[in-house]
Amino acid sequence: MSTTAERRIALDDAGFNLFALKSNDVLIDLLTDSGTGAMSRDQWAAIQHGDESYAGSPSWFRFRDAVQNLFPFPHVIPTHQGRAAEKILFSVIGGPGLIIPNNTHFDTTRANVEATGAQAVDLVIEEGHDPANLHPFKGNVDLGRLEALLAEHHDHIPVVFVTVTNNSGGGQPVSLENLRGVRAICDKYDKPLFLDACRFAENAWFIRSREPGQSGRDVIDIVRDMAALADGMTMSAKKDGLANIGGWLAMRDSDLAQRCREVLILTEGFPTYGGLAGRDLEAIAQGLSEVVEHDYLRYRIESTAYLGDALVASGIPVVRPIGGHAVYLDARALLPHIDPLEYPGQALSVALYEEGGIRSCEIGSVMFGLQPDGTEVPAALELVRLAIPRRTYTQSHIDYVIEVCQQVAANAGQLHGYRIVEAPPALRHFTARFEPLG
Ligand code: F0G
Repeated sequence: MSTTAERRIALDDAGFNLFALKSNDVLIDLLTDSGTGAMSRDQWAAIQHGDESYAGSPSWFRFRDAVQNLFPFPHVIPTHQGRAAEKILFSVIGGPGLIIPNNTHFDTTRANVEATGAQAVDLVIEEGHDPANLHPFKGNVDLGRLEALLAEHHDHIPVVFVTVTNNSGGGQPVSLENLRGVRAICDKYDKPLFLDACRFAENAWFIRSREPGQSGRDVIDIVRDMAALADGMTMSAKKDGLANIGGWLAMRDSDLAQRCREVLILTEGFPTYGGLAGRDLEAIAQGLSEVVEHDYLRYRIESTAYLGDALVASGIPVVRPIGGHAVYLDARALLPHIDPLEYPGQALSVALYEEGGIRSCEIGSVMFGLQPDGTEVPAALELVRLAIPRRTYTQSHIDYVIEVCQQVAANAGQLHGYRIVEAPPALRHFTARFEPLG
C-alpha cells in the first residue's frame, strides 16, 4: 500500500506519465492485459518441456500445430510479440502512397503502417464512435466506406485488416456476418484480408453470446470460421495466447510468407523459433488450448462486465456494451470542462493513480492526436482503459477499483488538464512528459 503523498511524488518523478512509474509504486495495475496474466499450472508444466534446439525443435511443432488447430493457415511465422509480426508484414507489403484500412488500428499497428510511408485508415461503423450506443458488434467495419475506399484506391491497397476485438474502439467485437461482408468486398477487389487477432477468443465468445444462430456452438468452431474468412493474421500471444511473451504472423500466400521469413531471419530469428525460446513456444501452445475453454471465457467476460456494470450503476460514463478485456471510461463525458487537447483522458488516469494507486491507460488525444505532419487533432474518443489482466485479480481487488473510480468521479469537476512538455515524434504516449495546467 502507498499513501496519496507518496503517489504525488511518484507522479512528479514520472512527468505525470503512468508508463514511467515504477510498477512497485502501483497498487492495482490495469495498464494493460498484455503479457500480464497469470499462467496456469499446465503452462508452467509445459515450459519444463521446452526444447531449445536452434532449428526444428519439438516445441516449435507443438506451437505450430496449436496455432493451425485454430487458424489453419499453411504458413506460421513465430515472432517475439505482435508488433514484430506487424513490422515484418508492413515492411514487406507497405510503402509510400499505400493505404491500409482497418476497423481501428491499434497504436503499434498504425505506427508500423505509417513507418513505411503508408496511410492507416480507420473504418469502424458509426455506432463504434458513440460510447453510449448499445450495438452488440461495435467493432464492425463500415462496409459502405470500405467499398468506397476500395472502389477509389484499390490499386494502392495491399491488404484489408480487421482487429478482433477492436481494442482502440473499446474492446468491442466484430460479428461473423460483418467479417463475411468484408470478405465479399475483398473478393470483389481481389485483396487479402488479415485479422489482427490478439483477442480472437474473446471475440468468438461475443459472437457465441450475441450473434443470431451462434449460441450453443463450440468457440473453437467459431474461431475456425473467423480464420476461414481471412487470408492471414497478426497475433500477440500476450493476450489470447495466455502467455507473457510471444506472437506470430500467419498466411496462405507462399510467396508472401517467403518474403516475410527473409525479414524474420534478419530481425527475429530462424523460422522455427522467431524471437522466442522453446519454452515460450510451449507456454503459448498450452495457452491456446485453455483460452477457448468455455468456462474460462465465461469467467473472463463476466468478470470484466462485473467492473463495468458497477461503474454504470454508479453513473460513471463508460463505453457500452462492456468490452472483453477492459472497461473504458469516457473521459470526454466525465470531464466536459477539459478541452480535448488538454487531454481529459490523461487527467482522469492521473487522478485514478493519485487517488488509489490504480494504473490505467489513456486512449485518446495523447495516444492518437499527433498527426504524421506534426499537427494535433483531437482523437475520435477520449477514453481511459482499465485493462484486466487474465486470471490475476480477485473480486475484492476489483471492488477496490470500483470505490476509487467512484471517489474520482465524485470530484471530477475539480480535475484540470495537462500540457505536453516533452515528446518523441511517434508513439509519444509511452514517453511524453506532462505538466498540470492550472
Ligand atoms: N494489435 C492489438 C489490437 C493490440 O492490442 C496490440 C497490443 C498489438 C497489436 C501489439 O501486440 O504488444 O504483442 O506487440 N496491445 C497491448 C495493449 C500493448 O495494451 O493493448 P504486442
